[in-house]
Parts: sequence; structure tokens; C-alpha cells
Amino acid sequence: MKLSVIGCGYLGAVHASCMADLGHEVVGIDVDAAKVAQLNAGEPPFHEPGLGEVLRRALDSGRLRFSTDMADAASARVHFVGVGTPQQQGSYAADLTYVDAAIDALVPHLHAGSDGPAVVAGKSTVPVGTAARLAEKIGDAGVLAWNPEFLREGFAVQDTVAPDRLVYGLPGDDAKAAVARDALDAVYASILERGTPRLTADYASAELVKVAANSFLATKISFINAMAEMCEVTGADVSFLAEAIGHDDRIGKKFLKAGIGFGGGCLPKDIRAFMARAGELGAEQSLTFLREVDSINLRRRQHVVNLTVHALEGRVPGKPVAVLGAAFKPHSDDIRDSPALDVASRLSGLGAKVRIVDPAAGPVLRRVRPDLDVRDSAHDAVAGAHVVLLLTEWPEFRDLDPVELGESVEHRTIIDGRNVLDSAAWRAAGWTYIGLGRP
Ligand code: UDX
Repeated sequence: MKLSVIGCGYLGAVHASCMADLGHEVVGIDVDAAKVAQLNAGEPPFHEPGLGEVLRRALDSGRLRFSTDMADAASARVHFVGVGTPQQQGSYAADLTYVDAAIDALVPHLHAGSDGPAVVAGKSTVPVGTAARLAEKIGDAGVLAWNPEFLREGFAVQDTVAPDRLVYGLPGDDAKAAVARDALDAVYASILERGTPRLTADYASAELVKVAANSFLATKISFINAMAEMCEVTGADVSFLAEAIGHDDRIGKKFLKAGIGFGGGCLPKDIRAFMARAGELGAEQSLTFLREVDSINLRRRQHVVNLTVHALEGRVPGKPVAVLGAAFKPHSDDIRDSPALDVASRLSGLGAKVRIVDPAAGPVLRRVRPDLDVRDSAHDAVAGAHVVLLLTEWPEFRDLDPVELGESVEHRTIIDGRNVLDSAAWRAAGWTYIGLGRP
């Protein structure tokens, strides 16, 4: 099938590459000419495991190309819209400027083909009600479906080619719904053949599925971080607690890792946009709990700052502090709303000499945060440090040898912001080990 993917960021670049790899003919459209050139040269513009291989394979097959010209999307049967919906400046609400701009630019290029009208499939995470509004805008030029995306950074390729479910939000008109459903079924044929659940609903339900899923995940993380706070005042161990409650399969073990909390380009802004939308709809009370989820999450960052200040006996200015990790999670170079970078910035603001290292986000940091002292290796960052903070659980940081590292620091104090280190091994090597919610 001929497809277009509008917006080639974390979502779109992966979707375009994977769809071409599945055999479709795909054009990726983005307004950023530098990004388009990079993608056409086979270079992923961000760190995502496996994307480079899929991208180059798809380009080599001749089925994938990228362009800044929306007219190049004209011959596609299905147009995926995967542009960003960031948090608005000075508000909790989502900024829909890019979504509206993409639809406005696309509509003049929508044409019916021999196999029916063009289908626009929205993938961006949007406030409930957006699809209905966009469908009005598209009018008779095409049929709109809402097809939320659940990929995780770091596993984006795998999540795109082997999703755990597909969700289609379809128009109320039965004939139009059938057109959209059949077109998406054809796009995802090889995925559906494997028995992947495919759920269809109205626009609002499909839009809500995405924000509900992210709200639930955020709530799980803040729940265990609230338990970490309880463990801190009682001397209990949250890692043990999480394991023990996780044996109940109604609860499960996933997303119960206590630490410095969640960040990234999705969870924080999605729960805020959801609250803002609830307010607009007069249902503010239904989501008041998400305010608490957000507060617990942000409190953990300040808690780590407080622990660091305490470890430095209150004398922060001029003290070398090593920060291991800047990305919001490992296997990504994404620093959007990163808890690790937030903690590093707050410590830097207090006057600490922060040396930060991240296996993937280093180049990004050097570009956008010239104020920070970015180092190339953990050993370089920790040399002479008075306290070491592990804030993103990259495997290379988890595997650091406490004995070897202990030789180059000034004080053997480590704050394990992700509760991933073997506390006994670090203590045996003479370190003061400080976990979160652990005695
Ligand atoms: C998330 C959703 O998982 C995905 O389905 C959606 O499409 C986009 O948003 P992502 O932002 O890539 O994906 O990251 P995710 O793996 O969900 O992690 C989010 C944050 O939570 C990270 O900062 C991570 O470190 C943190 N986290 C995760 C915890 O603090 N504890 C956990 O137990 C799990």
C-alpha cells in the first residue's frame, strides 16, 4: 500500500521505517529539512535501538523516502499523522498547533483512488474530542480514523511491528467506518495475522484509551514512590515491598520500580493535558488524583536533591558531584522532562560542580545545555567527586565496579536514584549507599 507518515519524530520516523519494512511504499513528511536529509541518508535523528537497521533496509528497498513537501503525500491511500502534542507554555493543556497545521496542509492533497477515499489515521496523543473536530475539518476530502500509538522509547521498533493491541477509533457513519477499518486492516495485515487483538470504537473512546493507559502507568509509578516515602519514614524496603505485592498477579511486578520517578515526552505531559481537558469538560474532579500523581513524582526529584545536600553536609557550592545519566530512561537519548537532568540542573543551580555523563544523551546535552559539564565516561565524571548519583539505569552504570570506582572519588557516597545497584556489594567496597525508600 502507499502510505504517508506526517511528522518524523520519535513516533513517525519509527512508524514510517517499520511500515516500509513490512512491505508498504512510504513517504515520511516533516517540516524540518535537516531531519529529512538525515533520514534520507539513513541516519536516525535520535537514539533508538534497531531503528538504524530498519531505516537503512527500508531505504535500500526503495520503498521509503522522506520529504518536506506535503504534495509528495498526495498519492498515498493512508496518511498517518504523528506530529507532537507538547505541553503548552504556561498551561497544562496540550498544544495542538502541529496537529492542526498537519491536517490543514494535508487536506488539499487528499484524493480518492481506485480503491476508495483517502484515509487519515491520527496517531498523535490528543485531548478527547480532537478527532471529531479534525473530522469536520477534513469533511468529504477523506475519512478520519484515530489509531493511538503505544510505543515505548527504547523498544519503539519492537512495539511498532509487534504491538500488544491495535486500537481504531472510527467515524459514526457506518460506510465511512468500514472504509477506515478496511484500510487500516490492510496496512496492519501481517500484524493482525499473528493474532494481535484489534479493537474498534468511536473516536472519543480511542482517544481516551491512550491517555487512560498512560495515566494508569504514571499512577502505578507514583503509587510505589508514595510507598517509598512510607518506607523512608519507617525503615522498610520498597524494593522488597514491590516484589512481595507484585506476586499477586492482579497487581503484577511491572512499573513498580521506585526511584526518581517518571519523565519523558509522554507520561508527564499526557497526565497534565488529560487534567486540563477534564477541566474544560467540567469533569475536573474525576482526575484530581492525577494532580497527586504528578506531585508525588516531582517530589522524588527534590528528595534526591535534599539527599545530596545532606551528603555534602549542606556545603554544596563548588563541590564536585557526579551524575550518571541524563536521559529520562536508558536506551534513549531523550532528555524531555528527564528526572535525571532535572536533578542535575537543580544541583548545578545550588552551586555544585556537576559532571554529567550519559551513553546516548551526551551529544544532545552538549548541544542544548552548554552550561553543563558533560563528560565522556563514568570514570571521568566521578574523578574527585564528593558524591555520585546514579539517575538513569543504563546497563553500563549498573555494572560499574564499586571497588575500582572507589579509587577515583573523593568520598565514597552513592545515591542510587533507580534502586538498581547491589547495595551489599557497594557497602562492602566501603561506600555509603543511599537508595530511595530503602534502609
Ligand atoms: C510511555 C508509555 O509506556 C508508552 O506506552 C507510551 O506510548 C508513551 O509513554 P515512554 O515514555 O517511552 O513510554 O517510557 P516508559 O517506559 O513508559 O517510562 C516512563 C518513565 O517512567 C521513565 O522515566 C522511567 O524511568 C519511569 N519508570 C518506569 C519508573 O520510574 N518506574 C517504573 O517502574 C517504570
